[in-house]
Amino acid sequence: MQDGRIERGDDEARGPKKVFVKSYGCQMNVYDAQRMADALAPEGYVETAVMEDADLVVLNTCHIREKAAEKVYSELGRVRVLKQERAAQGAETQVVVAGCVAQAEGAEILKRAQVVDLVVGPQSYHRLPELVREARTKRVVDTEFPVEDKFSVLPRPEKDKVRSRGVSAFVTVQEGCDKFCTFCVVPYTRGAEVSRPVAAILDEIRGLAEAGVREVSLLGQNVNAFHGEDEKGRTVTLGGLFERVAAVPGIARIRYTTSHPRDMDEELIAAHRDLPQLMPYLHLPVQSGSDRILEAMNRRHTAVEYLRIIERVRSARLDIALSSDFIVGFPGETDADFRDTMRLVETVGFASAFSFKYSPRPGTPAADLGEQVPEETKSERIHALQELILNGQRAFNAVTVGKTVDVLIEKPGRHPGQLAGKSPWLQALQIEDTEARIGDIVKVEITAPGSNSLFGRRVEEQASA
Ligand code: SAH
Ligand code: SF4
Ligand code: F3S
Repeated sequence: MQDGRIERGDDEARGPKKVFVKSYGCQMNVYDAQRMADALAPEGYVETAVMEDADLVVLNTCHIREKAAEKVYSELGRVRVLKQERAAQGAETQVVVAGCVAQAEGAEILKRAQVVDLVVGPQSYHRLPELVREARTKRVVDTEFPVEDKFSVLPRPEKDKVRSRGVSAFVTVQEGCDKFCTFCVVPYTRGAEVSRPVAAILDEIRGLAEAGVREVSLLGQNVNAFHGEDEKGRTVTLGGLFERVAAVPGIARIRYTTSHPRDMDEELIAAHRDLPQLMPYLHLPVQSGSDRILEAMNRRHTAVEYLRIIERVRSARLDIALSSDFIVGFPGETDADFRDTMRLVETVGFASAFSFKYSPRPGTPAADLGEQVPEETKSERIHALQELILNGQRAFNAVTVGKTVDVLIEKPGRHPGQLAGKSPWLQALQIEDTEARIGDIVKVEITAPGSNSLFGRRVEEQASA
């Protein structure tokens, strides 16, 4: 009684409870991981980057391709060993599978992996505190699409927490997808398209800006289909939202991802001309350059229509950097179809792009199509495509050498005396400079290309971009 130390339970003796969150997949999962940590903070959980230290391990998973989905099971193997080791030392570990695999597989995960205590889908993670408590006594699955809006009940992170996450932040503004491309699981894992109310988004961004955030990337599976309501009940499109975000004091840069060609409306294209805060970068997945394949994918546009959109965007913002996603080896893809894709890449001249081998996903229409393309063909095609994309990327970077641009300083550089930041075109730069502080936007001359990032030198003259 007299001695406090004897009174303290094991938990307290070990300090605050720790949560480790590992994210796979897209940027929305990175954002969700932060919000999960925020949801658990009022419960006394602090974040740790070391899985071995964690009382609560959350794997925030991705279901987009088979490889991504399988990663969770190999990771759970590691987690099982860790849980046993911690148990031997008298420490309990709770294991959560969240994200898109959780949504897609639900209770299957409990069957396949004994170590898992809780499965929670992307629409229920605001309930984590109660679910984690419940999962202490029994295994729990929550893959509901609840009526309440998770964003409206998630707690705001502390300013220090925001600052520790960096000066560039993600904010989900739209979630889900109604497009139903025949290869894709997202409409099933994330549900129908929902846009957040404008006031809630602006409130979140104001909070971030007050903590020092300078750049926001607005996220949505179909972000350019955004149609949020403002305070007066009027519908605001993404272009309109940008204007309001640009007016938030402190926010100097706006980015957005991912867009669908069908939703590139005039207002959004005009924003690229009119809003200096909107960075000259557009990620616009096209998937294929063949009309036949585009139709089979249910993309609902042709290659020429895509090229016309690119022309319109380029005439609004001459120096815009373009990026895309490609799938090779979609069922029925012939050499001629693939050549159309290669031709489209050459025609556009992307600053960067992602390409993937088609992966049949359970429950999607394309998985049941005949004419699945053999693995070797997929491999040959992806190598050729990636080389072409890499050449394009090198060409784009080479053209920027010698230019003076505004760079947002994000973190210390690789070597002493260097800082790391991003150009308006999302190029990673290593800059010779010791004066600038993280969060500053400084003028930098791009001096040389490198393998992962480019090199730059701080200059005083006017920026050209
Ligand atoms: N919502 C975004 C991104 C979806 S997932 C969009 O609509 O563009 C990111 C990328 O993964 C897609 O653009 C596509 O290129 C790729 N992808 C999706 N499903 C796939 C599958 N079954 N096999 C291979 N790649 C896939
Ligand atoms: Fe998937 Fe197509 Fe929706 Fe993108 S637009 S998330 S690829 S269904
Ligand atoms: Fe993956 Fe889900 Fe994102 S499937 S790509 S984590 S929306």
